[in-house]
Amino acid sequence: MTTPADTFNEHAYDLQMYVHDVTSIFDRRLSLEENVRLVAQCKRRLVTSGAPIPAALASQHPTAPYTRNLAHVDPEQRFVVIVLVWGGFQETTVHDHLNWCVVGVHTGTAHVTDFDRIDDESIAGRAELVIRGSAMAAAGATMALLPPSRSNIHKMTNATRSQMISIHTYGDPGTKASVFNPRSGTNEVIEMQFHNLSPNEDPKSRRFN
Ligand SMILES: [Fe+2]
Repeated sequence: MTTPADTFNEHAYDLQMYVHDVTSIFDRRLSLEENVRLVAQCKRRLVTSGAPIPAALASQHPTAPYTRNLAHVDPEQRFVVIVLVWGGFQETTVHDHLNWCVVGVHTGTAHVTDFDRIDDESIAGRAELVIRGSAMAAAGATMALLPPSRSNIHKMTNATRSQMISIHTYGDPGTKASVFNPRSGTNEVIEMQFHNLSPNEDPKSRRFN
């Protein structure tokens, strides 16, 4: 017997439908701005539908600062989808992305801090930052960033002790980020890992279907 809730979830807009729709958007060969706008629409639908995240992607790594589970890599490398699982008050470094990104909060509440860069970028590895502002992002909230400018530097934090899940779609492989230490005024590009891949698994071959 199915309950109304079961019936709803059975038809809810889920990760599989999202990956299908984002693939279709890129197949239309639109402008970058239009791609990101449409991906953000699909992301909002995904994080407001009530569809659960598959358990394997919602599992939290026991020791990671926050968990990055790779869900899907587009076969043509146009985008990747990553599920982030956050324990209480876990947070990213202060960072910038290498390309566009669209983020949706699926479960819990995020706190996002935005930074401005105030140096002239003339010294490699150095960066002077100032906090521009911050905002809470409850479940169902989405954020979209076009390729980084000086104003895309940010930090994301799980705002509560409860687990948070967010779904991130990037226009790059999701394996590198530009990381800032605002206290020391330094900046470097770092490699980032996924926590759900088998040993020797090639991230590029990861598909969600
Ligand atoms: Fe980010």
